[in-house]
Amino acid sequence: MSNLKEVRVPDLGNVSGAAIIEIPIKVGESIQAEQALITLESDKASMDIPAPFAGKVKEIKVKVGDKVSKGDFIVLLETEADTAVAEEKPAAKKETTETAAANVQQETAKPAETITTVVNTEDTAVSSEDDDQGDVHAGPGVRRLAREFGLNLNLITGTGQKGRVVKEDLQNFVKSRLNQTGQSSGTGAGLPSAPQIDFSQFGETENKPLSRIKKLSAQYLHRNWLLVPHVTQFNEADITELEAFRKAQAAFAAKQNVKLTPLVFIMKAVVTALKEFPAFNASLSADGEQLILKKYFHIGIAVDTPEGLVVPVIRDVDKKSLLELAKELAEVSNKARLKQLSSADMQGSSFTISSLGGIGGTAFTPIVNLPDVAILGVSKAQFKPQYQDGEFIPRLMLPLCLSYDHRVIDGAEGARFSVFLADCLSDIRRWLL
Ligand code: COA
Repeated sequence: MSNLKEVRVPDLGNVSGAAIIEIPIKVGESIQAEQALITLESDKASMDIPAPFAGKVKEIKVKVGDKVSKGDFIVLLETEADTAVAEEKPAAKKETTETAAANVQQETAKPAETITTVVNTEDTAVSSEDDDQGDVHAGPGVRRLAREFGLNLNLITGTGQKGRVVKEDLQNFVKSRLNQTGQSSGTGAGLPSAPQIDFSQFGETENKPLSRIKKLSAQYLHRNWLLVPHVTQFNEADITELEAFRKAQAAFAAKQNVKLTPLVFIMKAVVTALKEFPAFNASLSADGEQLILKKYFHIGIAVDTPEGLVVPVIRDVDKKSLLELAKELAEVSNKARLKQLSSADMQGSSFTISSLGGIGGTAFTPIVNLPDVAILGVSKAQFKPQYQDGEFIPRLMLPLCLSYDHRVIDGAEGARFSVFLADCLSDIRRWLL
C-alpha cells in the first residue's frame, strides 16, 4: 500500500518569502531521504530543503522563481507505507498529520541548518556531515559533491554570481589542496589540534556561545591566516596639515549633517595609491596562475559591532567626495550595528581598511581579507617629535600597518606603496594631481 504525503516548507528562522532558485528533482523520480527537493535563496543565504523521507515524486507544487515561506506546500511524495515509516526520522514523524479522506499526509521538511559550526579539526578543509554550510551560496549539485568529498563550503571562495560557489571553485579548491599536500614535507603531521581542557578544575567558569557573526568570521580569518603568506609593513604619515584642514571643515560638514573623520581622507589616499600600484587592487586567481586586476575601487571597511566584526563595502570610492564618503560610512556602520547588512553589502571589495584609530593602540597586524591581496590597518594618530631643519618639532603622526599577500606583492613593492600612501596623507594636494 502506498501513501501520498505533502512536504511543506519548514521553519526558516526569521526568513520569509525566500526565492526558489533550483528544483533538482523531477516528477516520477524516486528520491532518497535527505535528498534536496528545492534550493531557496534569501538576502542572507541559500539553503536546500531536503526530503524528510524517501519516496516517488508525484507532483511539484512550485516553480523556480516562486517565493515561499514556512508551511507552503512544495512537493507531493508517494511512499510505500512500510518503508516510509521505517525511513522517517522520529522528529519528522512527530509532525505528520493524516487527512483521512485522501490518505494524504503533511510533512514539514527539515531545512539544511543555517548556523555555521566552527572548524576545529586538524584539517580545516574537512568537515563532518553535520557541519552547517547553509550560509554559503551554492546549488544542490555543488553541495552534494562537497558532502561526498567531505569539504566545508565555507572555506571555498565562490566566483559565481553574488559569490556563489560553483563546481569549478570546488575543483580548484581540491586541486590547490592536493598541490599543497604534494609540496608538504611529508611528515603527515598536519595542524595540531588544540587540547580539550576542563577549566573548571582551576576555578569557576561559564560557557558563553559565540555569536553567529563571530563563528563565521572565525572561519574566514582562520582560512585567510592559513592560506595567505602575510607580511606587515609599518609606516607613519605626518597628518598635521590634513588634520588642520579636517578640523577647519568640521563646521561646514556639520551643517550638512556629516562628521568628517580621518578615515574618509585615508580612503581617498588609499585609492590614489591603488591607482599608482594596481597589483594592490587585485585578486589572485584560484589556480594561482594569474593576477586579476580590478578597474574599480570598492573599499571594504572593518566595522566593530557588538556581535563581532563585519566588513561592508563602500563602492566607487574614487568617484565620491569626502562628504559623500563620510555620509555613506556613517550609514553603513549604522546598518552594520543594527544587523541590517545584506550579503551583497559585504561583497566585491578590492582592498580593505581596518581602522582602530578611534580606540587607540600604536600598531597591529591585520589579516588580509581574501580575495583581496592587501589590507591597511590604521592606529591612533599621536603628536611625536620630528627632526626638521635642525630641530625637533611636534607633528601629528598616523601609524599605518599594511599587510599583504607575499605571493602577489614583494617586500619592496609593499614598502613603496606604504611610503607613497604616507606621502599622499601628508600632502592631500597630491590627490588633485
Ligand atoms: N587617529 C586619531 N583619532 C582618530 C583616528 C585616528 N586614526 N580615527 C578616528 N579618530 C577619531 C575620530 O576623529 C573621532 O574623534 P571625535 O569624536 O573627537 O571627532 C573618534 O576617533 C571616533 O571615530 P570613529 O567613530 O571610530 O569613526 P571612524 O570614521 O574613524 O571609524 C568605523 C568608523 C566604523 C571604522 C569604526 O567605528 C570602527 O568600527 N572601527 C573598528 C574596526 C575594527 O574593529 N577593526 C578590527 C579589525 S581586526
